[in-house]
Order: sequence, then structure tokens, then C-alpha cells
Amino acid sequence: MREILVAGNWKMNGSSAANLELVAGIVAGIPKGRGFGLLVCPPYPYLSAVSEQVKGSAVKVGAQTVSEHESGAYTGEVAPGMLKDIGCEYVIVGHSERRALYGETSGQVAAKFVATQAAGMTPILCVGETLDEREAGTTENVVDEQLAAVIDAAGIKAFENAVVAYEPVWAIGTGVTATPEQAQDVHKHIRAQLGARDRGIADQVQILYGGSMKGENAAGLLAMPDIDGGLIGGASLKANDFLAIAAAAARD
Ligand code: 13P
Repeated sequence: MREILVAGNWKMNGSSAANLELVAGIVAGIPKGRGFGLLVCPPYPYLSAVSEQVKGSAVKVGAQTVSEHESGAYTGEVAPGMLKDIGCEYVIVGHSERRALYGETSGQVAAKFVATQAAGMTPILCVGETLDEREAGTTENVVDEQLAAVIDAAGIKAFENAVVAYEPVWAIGTGVTATPEQAQDVHKHIRAQLGARDRGIADQVQILYGGSMKGENAAGLLAMPDIDGGLIGGASLKANDFLAIAAAAARD
């Protein structure tokens, strides 16, 4: 049985004061029950403080991106080893905002995935199509290309320690959520793509859904056989909203 991962991607939001309150609220309100993990991904400047604040709780900390390089003359970049050093266990790689706004290519995303694992952390690889791509009927091709770039670079065995997040771009921050069936179709396809290379790895890899996930729609999405959690933007910024999704994931 795959565990559910409820992951908050705070994006470029927060402040020292707001984060203190948000994290305290999350830690205090973790729902009873089993079968789920909690992760928060704050902006870089707050990673250390949040990492300290969650110590001793079940909440883990991840970063939103990373450099593909180990160290050196890369002004403004943050190395995987630095993230590991301050307590990060996960790194989101290839978020659609990074691909679209900062020109990250599938090749670069693959390099970041490899670098994250090399530093001893778990990459959360984001894939997903735009509305135009969905309407053109190319969703599976887009996701296949994004996945293949990483499988080619890292090898299928690397997915033993990786998470995939299906985030349809048209559902991100729009309030429009993929229906559980729409999401399940793509999740199943992603698992099949991995399974064609290694069945055992495909069966154990967590595939998260991201895109306007919230307390009200989480249960329906998480009930799908290939949806193993959520990568949550807007609803991860308020403790109660985030905890409502965790509550939908908790099993007796
Ligand atoms: P929203 O939940 O705000 O739609 O964002 C989803 C997302 O991009 C998470 O990485």
C-alpha cells in the first residue's frame, strides 16, 4: 500500500511571522490516523527556520527548486548539498512555473533530479500539460516527453527514491480542478509508462496530483487508485485548509 503524501508548495509566499503561525498551526493540528505524510516547501530564505520549527514533529521540509550544480560560480543559485545540510528531505523539480517562466528545459529538470538524489534527497518531479496541449489531445505525449527526459538521464531505478507530481497547468491557481477521473487517467498512464520499464518501481512510486486541490475536493481525488497525494499551492498557505486535505488522507 502506497502512503499518501500531502505536500505544500508555498511558492513565493510568506514571511517570518506568517510562517511561524502557519507551521505552528500545522504541527498542532496534524490529524489522527495513519497512511499519510506531511511536507512543506517554503521559499529558500525560510527553509532553515521552518526546518528547525518542525523538528520533533511528523512534518518534513522540502525546497521548491535547486541548482543542478554541486558548487561554484553560479551566482544566485542554491546547491543540493546546501539544502540537505539545512534539513531538506525533498526538492520539487520541474514545476510548470519554473519551466514556463524561467525557461527550464526537460534536460535541466533531469539534471536537477539527478543532483537532488546525489545529495541524498528525494526529487518531486512535476509533469503536466497546458490547456492548449490538452485540447489538442497531446496530454499523454507531453507527459511522456517530460518523464522520458528524466528516465533517460537518471535510469528507471532512480524512481525508487522519487515522487512524481501530475500538475495540469490549466488547473494550477485557477480554481479549476481536474476531475478525479481526468486525473486518474493521467496518473494511470504515468504509472504504466514507468511500469513498462520496471513494474515493481511503478507499483511503489507515489504519484501526487496538483492543481487547485483543497479540502472539498481532496477526498474524491485521493480515492482514485493511482492518486497518492497532493502537491498543494494556495490551500497550503492556511493551516486549516492544509489540514483539511491531510484529514481526507488519514486512514484509521
Ligand atoms: P494551486 O493548488 O494553487 O493550484 O497550485 C498547485 C501547484 O502548483 C502546486 O505545486
